[in-house]
Amino acid sequence: MMVFAVLGLLISGVAFCYVLFMVVAVIRGAPYVPTDRKSVETMIDLTKPKTGERGLDLGSGDGRLVVEMGKRGCQALGIEINPFLVLYSRYKIRKMGLSRVAKVVWGNMWKPDFGGFDIVTVYGFPSIMRDLEKKLLRELKPGSRVVSKDFKFSDWIPETKKDGIYLYIK
Ligand SMILES: C[S@@+](CC[C@H](N)C(=O)[O-])C[C@H]1O[C@@H](n2cnc3c(N)ncnc32)[C@H](O)[C@@H]1O
Repeated sequence: MMVFAVLGLLISGVAFCYVLFMVVAVIRGAPYVPTDRKSVETMIDLTKPKTGERGLDLGSGDGRLVVEMGKRGCQALGIEINPFLVLYSRYKIRKMGLSRVAKVVWGNMWKPDFGGFDIVTVYGFPSIMRDLEKKLLRELKPGSRVVSKDFKFSDWIPETKKDGIYLYIK
């Protein structure tokens, strides 16, 4: 009986934490909605990645964009606020044998400086686009590429748009 009670508490604790992190994600960035397979390919195609370039996915979810960048020869990093998704994406990356080229850290995407990255990918939310645009334009080096799924920046003019994905070049 005691075992079931402890197990029940444990499961509800984990479920509570998961919902909590979902709520935090909505407040600080975007809810978890994974990019579909075709869009993942289009996003990375548009950035024309070169071997050894550094890629960053802001709010990396289950790590699918990080995995794709790693497969295309980039040194890819994802930042994700939800620790459950961080653990899951790390598991996937290890299973695919991509640990040398793809990494995911648990953290807030607003914290790091974007200056060291050649490629930034984002599937965010309308409410973050204005602040994100300012931060990217301030920190990115010339020639860096940014792709955004579904949502565009307010002032920065995209180079091109394909299937709802906007490409920006600094
Ligand atoms: C729309 S999903 C996109 C997931 C993934 N990039 C993809 O395209 O499949 C947005 C992700 O951003 C995460 N997120 C929201 N706010 C964040 C923040 N401030 N820092 C890091 N990650 C955040 C959410 O937990 C969620 O996984």
